[in-house]
Amino acid sequence: VSLGYADPAGHPALRGLLGDMVARSRGVPVDDGELLVTRGSQMALYLAARTILSPGDVVAVEAWGYRPAWEALRLAGATLVPVPVDAGGISVDALSELTKTRKVRAIYVTPHHQYPTTALLSQPRRLALLALARAERIAILEDDYDHEFHYDGRPVLPLASADTRGNVIYLGTLSKIFAPGLRMGFAIAPRKVIERMTALRILVDRQGDHVVEAAMAELIEDGELERHARRMRRIYATRRETLVEALDKHLSGIATYKVPQGGMAIWTHTPGIDVEAWSERARERGVYIHTAKRFAFDGRARPYLRLGFAAESEARIRTAIERLAEAVPRG
Ligand SMILES: Cc1ncc(COP(=O)(O)O)c(C=O)c1O
Repeated sequence: VSLGYADPAGHPALRGLLGDMVARSRGVPVDDGELLVTRGSQMALYLAARTILSPGDVVAVEAWGYRPAWEALRLAGATLVPVPVDAGGISVDALSELTKTRKVRAIYVTPHHQYPTTALLSQPRRLALLALARAERIAILEDDYDHEFHYDGRPVLPLASADTRGNVIYLGTLSKIFAPGLRMGFAIAPRKVIERMTALRILVDRQGDHVVEAAMAELIEDGELERHARRMRRIYATRRETLVEALDKHLSGIATYKVPQGGMAIWTHTPGIDVEAWSERARERGVYIHTAKRFAFDGRARPYLRLGFAAESEARIRTAIERLAEAVPRG
């Protein structure tokens, strides 16, 4: 590995291997010059936003969503407009309505397992979203952060796999499949967009860490990354079952939920409960939970929780739900 100045778009071997991996396992075709390696998908999103947006441009976002992405879009001058999310993912009808009154430049979405609700964007909505994006010339910023973690059946292919007009900027990360501290992500987009993103990247971060990128290239080439993903998928699926059992045992009648087909958390509805008080009481017992407020575009409290299962052992998941049940605020 060279320790000199090197390709700002990423270590060539890694770019090639990531491109092959995404083409093979996610059905997203990647040609030369269409992939940029970044420090996490957060950087990829920011560079994409700065590249395609002008100040004041309207960007539609999921009304429950990922705040760091919203902040990056805002920093690029976007005016964000929330679009409702339900069990089928983002409402494309609502987005379509929005386009009748406002010029929507882009939409930021998490179609695989919607963050934070875990809903899978339904097939009809996928087709409708791609068609709307084509008709209205809307760029789709597709954040596919947890592609490997689908437990029931095959992962649903990204929107980018069906994009024929270059409307989608696809954002991937190794944070979930490998480790968040690695700070490695990537963007796939038409070559011109990647070139502009790369030119911008040079101004703030001349190039990524090519030593680490070369090491990651070896792990991919040896099949280690995919083996690791398969192993973790089995482990996470078991942890999901453990959380389901614990919820049914300790919180039935309090929390209702739909078992997610994948992802790293269960989104639960807890009608009539003050979840902010609950979260405080849980914290006193050493259990940290995320309440709906954290993900709500309007910042309002609502009785939903996102309970993560991927990062904890089965024993800790059981204990956490037991303690959470003890902490339910009464009255
Ligand atoms: C919705 C979403 N997108 C992306 C990421 C990953 O970001 P990064 O690749 O910058 O670590 C996360 C991690 O928490 C996430 O929840």
